Amino acid sequence: MTRTEPRSAILGTGSAVPSAVVTNDDLAKIVDTTDEWITTRTGIKERRVLEEDKAASDLARLASERALENAGLEVADLDAIIVGTCTADYQFPSLACVLEAKLGAKDVFSFDVNAACSGFLNALSVADMFVRSGRIRKALVVGTDVLSRFLDWQDRSTCILFGDGAGAAVLGVSDDDRGILSARLQTDGSYAETLYVRAGGSKRPATVETVENREHSIFMNGKEVFKVAVRSMEEISRRVLGEAELCVEDVSLVVPHQANRRIITALAARLCIPMEKVIVNLHKYGNTSAASIPVALDEVRREGRIAAGDIVLLNAFGAGFAWGAAVIRF
Ligand SMILES: CC(C)(COP(=O)(O)OP(=O)(O)OC[C@H]1O[C@@H](n2cnc3c(N)ncnc32)[C@H](O)[C@@H]1OP(=O)(O)O)[C@@H](O)C(=O)NCCC(=O)NCCS
Repeated sequence: MTRTEPRSAILGTGSAVPSAVVTNDDLAKIVDTTDEWITTRTGIKERRVLEEDKAASDLARLASERALENAGLEVADLDAIIVGTCTADYQFPSLACVLEAKLGAKDVFSFDVNAACSGFLNALSVADMFVRSGRIRKALVVGTDVLSRFLDWQDRSTCILFGDGAGAAVLGVSDDDRGILSARLQTDGSYAETLYVRAGGSKRPATVETVENREHSIFMNGKEVFKVAVRSMEEISRRVLGEAELCVEDVSLVVPHQANRRIITALAARLCIPMEKVIVNLHKYGNTSAASIPVALDEVRREGRIAAGDIVLLNAFGAGFAWGAAVIRF
């Protein structure tokens, strides 16, 4: 098949997590839980929590600078900054604009996409479109979330799951066969209230009552999320592989969203992909939402686990419900 339009490729990656570690045993001191329960139900052992005087843009800045360095590029080389996040520094403006100023970027356009845990995949897919259309040559794509600020630390069913982090990738025009071969996004808004923060938006702005009722933290029907996540990620993974004219046997590595080890193993089993090819780092960081895929991708890149020509499958699922997948030749 001849290619008529340019493809976009990942030129560099970077990541950043806070230094403060909160272990399962630490959580067992504040809610009625145990390391054993959290480990067997989720695979998570510890997570990182951002310092009080820092914001999501601080983590994003570090991850972005590392991605630019890995790509051998300068901020001045960027045409756009696209950030996947649901925990921006402010209600508005976008975190991308705050990040742009922190990086000292000029002559760029920057914006956020909010697809919760699928945020990075959505940002990557949008950046891919801009690059492939020829409108831009280089984009910084970031996934960052600081969900520790939106957790009810008295709710044992949610506070054990999440952590903070940021990951970034520099996307540019590919001059060879490398690059994003296929990317696909999907949503089902009928699940909007299955995983959400009830107050703080225009529907239910902050009041003394919403704060007292603890409505500014994550509410989730975990079982429902689990069920739909596995099914949806399997379907969309098969679709992107099909669009790239590849089969599951061609996949060198899967970098899935890191929500729950049981979700990941169920997905791998349904796709018939052995766990040796599936990246799991959630024992160290928990679910870092939009950051989870780029953080894991950066780790495997730094560990030298991705070779030239490898086919890497990314897949994500989160609030919305919003999910997506991408298949990339490195
Ligand atoms: C949240 C999740 C770990 C819960 O696991 P589960 O096996 O579904 O457990 P349940 O919710 O059925 O709870 C089982 C019991 O454990 C209890 N429990 C919940 N959290 C607990 C905790 N941290 N420690 C100990 N017990 C806990 C529940 O109260 C319930 O007790 P009960 O039977 O007396 O009512 C699991 O549903 C999950 O991971 N879902 C996906 C969530 C997710 O990934 N969200 C983000 C998507 S991006």
